[in-house]
Amino acid sequence: CGIVGYIGDKDATPIIINGLKRLEYRGYDSAGLAVIENSHIEVRRDAGKLANLVNRVAERPLKGKIGIGHTRWATHGEPSERNAHPHLGQTGKVVVVHNGIVENFMELREELAAEGVLFNSDTDTETIVHLIERYMGAGSSLEQAARKALVHLQGAHGIVVMSTHEPDKIVCARIGNAGGVVIGKGENEMFIASDIPAILEHTRRVVFLESRQMAVVTQNGYEVTTLEGAKVAVQEHTVGWDPVSAEKGEYRHFMQKEIHEQVRALTDTLAGRVDFEEGKIRIPQLNLTTEKAKQINKIIITACGTAAHAGMVGKTYLERIARVPVEVEIASEFRYRDPIVDENTVVLAISQSGETADTLAAMELGRMRGAILWSIVNAIGSQAMRLADGYISMQTGPEIGVASTKAFTAPLVDLYMLAIVLGDMRGYLSDAERRKLVNDLRLVPSLVGECLNREDAVFEVSKALKDVQNSMYLGRGINMPIAYEGALKLKEISYIHAEGYPAGEMKHGPIALVDKEMLVLAIAPKDPWYDKMISQIEQAKARGGKVAVIATDGDTRAAEIADYVFWVPDAPWYLTPIVTVIPLQIFAYHIATLRGLDVDQPRNLAKSVTVE
Ligand code: G6P
Repeated sequence: CGIVGYIGDKDATPIIINGLKRLEYRGYDSAGLAVIENSHIEVRRDAGKLANLVNRVAERPLKGKIGIGHTRWATHGEPSERNAHPHLGQTGKVVVVHNGIVENFMELREELAAEGVLFNSDTDTETIVHLIERYMGAGSSLEQAARKALVHLQGAHGIVVMSTHEPDKIVCARIGNAGGVVIGKGENEMFIASDIPAILEHTRRVVFLESRQMAVVTQNGYEVTTLEGAKVAVQEHTVGWDPVSAEKGEYRHFMQKEIHEQVRALTDTLAGRVDFEEGKIRIPQLNLTTEKAKQINKIIITACGTAAHAGMVGKTYLERIARVPVEVEIASEFRYRDPIVDENTVVLAISQSGETADTLAAMELGRMRGAILWSIVNAIGSQAMRLADGYISMQTGPEIGVASTKAFTAPLVDLYMLAIVLGDMRGYLSDAERRKLVNDLRLVPSLVGECLNREDAVFEVSKALKDVQNSMYLGRGINMPIAYEGALKLKEISYIHAEGYPAGEMKHGPIALVDKEMLVLAIAPKDPWYDKMISQIEQAKARGGKVAVIATDGDTRAAEIADYVFWVPDAPWYLTPIVTVIPLQIFAYHIATLRGLDVDQPRNLAKSVTVE
């Protein structure tokens, strides 16, 4: 979910609504806002996209200089108007928005119902506002009441609350990893948000709340304390992002814009880190010494979704180039296992948002077990960046489209660079090998640019295949994770059934599905697994499947078997995943738009999943 709050001397409504627009990627199944207007709280809410709320507000405007808003990704209670945030208390004098899950909400609900509280929604959030009212009713200030209420909540939360009893402040708090709480400082105005893009157009000066911290925010300042009430000295950060990069510009969708931004994003990824003269990579934020690098006995990469697929490619880089054993673990699995980790094990989290609850919990487990904690993160200042002992910052700028694209290729390059750093420090790379690997990085932006130039050809294939209902993506070796990623891109935005499979496994089951209705999409660039891929494509073809192949320019063998070909430029085999994934991103994008679907906000998904 996304949260925005404002207190200052301007009209809060447009500021909150604009902020929510920038946070729709965090959830978009209902939205609402509340402002204090002439000493009472006015609330507008609606189910569905933010546009519905905007219409509501246009019909019945609300004006005030303090307010809070929310865009929701439903956990408890269907997405409807009554379940949309903000939630008002019984007196109508306290209002709350919330990100997270109140895990013990059933008990709290019963307890409050026994006290005579009537509930207006099915949400867990509503318990919070009633608890705060309970304590305010007994004489506590808003701040004290919030403090007392928070003690009752199990789970992880970001909470923002205001009251007509104290109309000059907003109280916000963070417990655990249910998304961040950021306070933005302006001139005679202050902002609160779950994530930076919401407030970037107003201020660059921000403060992040840590877990179990709370802030009282007034028009001219803020005070941060622990939940127990001890004062906290916080550090202010200045955010460098360009607000324009969070706009769609000439593109129809953020996803399309972000696909095309990959040349720039990857150029920025290399900038400042690659020394082509010396053939060296430098990533000082890793805080790594040669001694430590030699002691590393294992790297566990942990992540969710697209980021996990990037990690799977990274396994090949790190094992082949640095000779370190690597395991890749889906974060929601890793967090509940009893992993074998010691102080020489690296737990490396990959996350675009840096706020995914499962990934953060996996990092915490690594921390508890004494591992070295690293992260590869896009969102600057996010929890995954701050928790880590060392990090690599993806230099891609904000990613808004739910289907991740530039935040997939950037970590591929980051992992390749990391493998070179480790291989060098651990003494596995000769000078010549290292120089060759580094030098090949020069090719990355132009290879990606060349794939993007071929968008029209991919569009033609998309038109021919837009009505497909089932698809199987096959890859091997370093391109096996690209089969997973390609299938994920297609299913998440086009709702076409798509499975990713290691091609060698096709004969052990999935081949039973192959008939003339099935699209078999094979990723077969010129890499060490090429010959194996060709024979597997032939097996699928022999069963009557519709075959599309990602093939290297000039590959007549692939062209002969395939019904459709996505041509990609020749690339050093290590770099082929960065190349082969591009037509698959473009293909998924065009199929979804041809089917008239909402590419940037596909059903049931959220960009950043801050709940378990
Ligand atoms: C969500 C998004 C995915 C993303 C995953 C992990 O499910 O829809 O696109 O890959 O979360 O997100 P993260 O921010 O941790 O990379």
